[in-house]
Amino acid sequence: MSGELKGLLEAAREAADTIEAWREQGFHIRVISHLDADGLAAAGIIGRCLYRLDLPFRIRIARWLNEEVVRELAEEPKNPLIFTDMGSGYLELIGQELPGTPIIILDHHPPVGEAPEGVVHVNPHLFGVDGSREISGAGVTYLVAREVSQDNRDLAYLAVVGALGDLQDKYGDRGLGGVNEQIVRDAEETGRIKRSLDLLLYGRETKPIHRALAHTTNPFLPGISGEEDRCLALLSKAGIKLKEGDRWRTPSELTREEKESLFSLITEHLLAQGVKVDRAFKLIGTVYTLVREKPATPLRDGREFASLLNACGRLDRAGLGVSICLGDRTHALREAQEVLDEYRRKLMETMSWVFEEKGRLQERENVYVLHGKDQISERLVGTVASLTASNMPGAAKPVVAYAYVKDEGLAKVSLRMGPGCPPIDLGEVARIAAEACGGMGGGHDVAAGAQIPLEKVDEFLELVDRLVGERVGEGDTQA
Ligand code: C5P
Ligand code: ZN
Repeated sequence: MSGELKGLLEAAREAADTIEAWREQGFHIRVISHLDADGLAAAGIIGRCLYRLDLPFRIRIARWLNEEVVRELAEEPKNPLIFTDMGSGYLELIGQELPGTPIIILDHHPPVGEAPEGVVHVNPHLFGVDGSREISGAGVTYLVAREVSQDNRDLAYLAVVGALGDLQDKYGDRGLGGVNEQIVRDAEETGRIKRSLDLLLYGRETKPIHRALAHTTNPFLPGISGEEDRCLALLSKAGIKLKEGDRWRTPSELTREEKESLFSLITEHLLAQGVKVDRAFKLIGTVYTLVREKPATPLRDGREFASLLNACGRLDRAGLGVSICLGDRTHALREAQEVLDEYRRKLMETMSWVFEEKGRLQERENVYVLHGKDQISERLVGTVASLTASNMPGAAKPVVAYAYVKDEGLAKVSLRMGPGCPPIDLGEVARIAAEACGGMGGGHDVAAGAQIPLEKVDEFLELVDRLVGERVGEGDTQA
């Protein structure tokens, strides 16, 4: 075992011992987790771990950690708190507002400052493990659950879903790597997940093939993504049968030959559009199948599971997502499926809006700015920024997208690095710029966010442009 991993596991052990001690004292636990897929998966893992220990708990999901959220926690009775997939970026705030509360932080965001005295802080960055690529918030939470009991190894699949939700599939064949690789192995050994190399079409377990192809946005395939009719034409050209009797076939049912002819047609199509063939190769990658889930449900495919959780979180139905992670496969799943459809519909609409007119994406000296204002929902802006950044090949500048949250007098900003960008720390840029504008910001090197007062948007954007420029100029290679 590497020294880095050893340190991380020791910290996980300390957190597990703390939970054990809380149990002996008969505490009621408060869990607070992040609203994205990784955060919901983390909440599910810790919830199941506490449930198995017979420890009473309550889970609360937050969009972000700010003074208001922490103060609300401070006003409650001082029961122990577990932060999952959040907390490390706001250690000072936690120390100031929650003195005397027993606290565990299980996070993978880069820590800012020092953990307050007595707080158990488990974070890969403290041990030289890259938290933006190698392990997610759900992964850190899983390591602790596994230290609590080996029986919790059967929760590894949720940590895989969390890592996919945080787009950590950046290793070879679009697979997970680093500590995540070990977590995937736990998920395989407990019979939950099977890996295979396949076409990464969106909705591979649930959608008719032409729709799955049209809904694939990562990679974005010009002339195919968002174009159901063209996809139908392409598929019939490839001689692919779309229906089995009355039932639509799904991509997971395609035979090897069918996949090969579809792939070569897509490649030809892209070449004809003047798009580099590399793009098509990004369509082939590691599929994580959750073999215990029913076929034809969005839970069967790890990426689709993650996007279902993300949709629940973003459309104010975080409770549904948590229920699914806690094991509900009845009404919660049916409802979540509807939420997912609605979310995807809105997302496709917004992405068409982004690429509809050139001016929507403004090129500045060092960044691209997407002026979402009140055209992009604050709930979608993070995902829209990710998709925009990953679909701007060769663009060596990060994407900064913002949307108004009018009733709070705020703008929600999301910063994302695209594939061609030089390595700089966007989390630091977001934090410095947001603080200078009276807001809050932070996050990972490749994906960060901020909330700032509405009237400061222009100032913030200028500052971000400058800070990015300075870092690129320095050849900053900080991870
Ligand atoms: O909200 P968004 O998806 O753009 O956030 C990107 C990353 O930045 C997330 O991991 C989020 O937790 C982090 N973030 C943060 N502080 C903020 C806003 C976002 O650490 N104020
Ligand atoms: Zn996360």
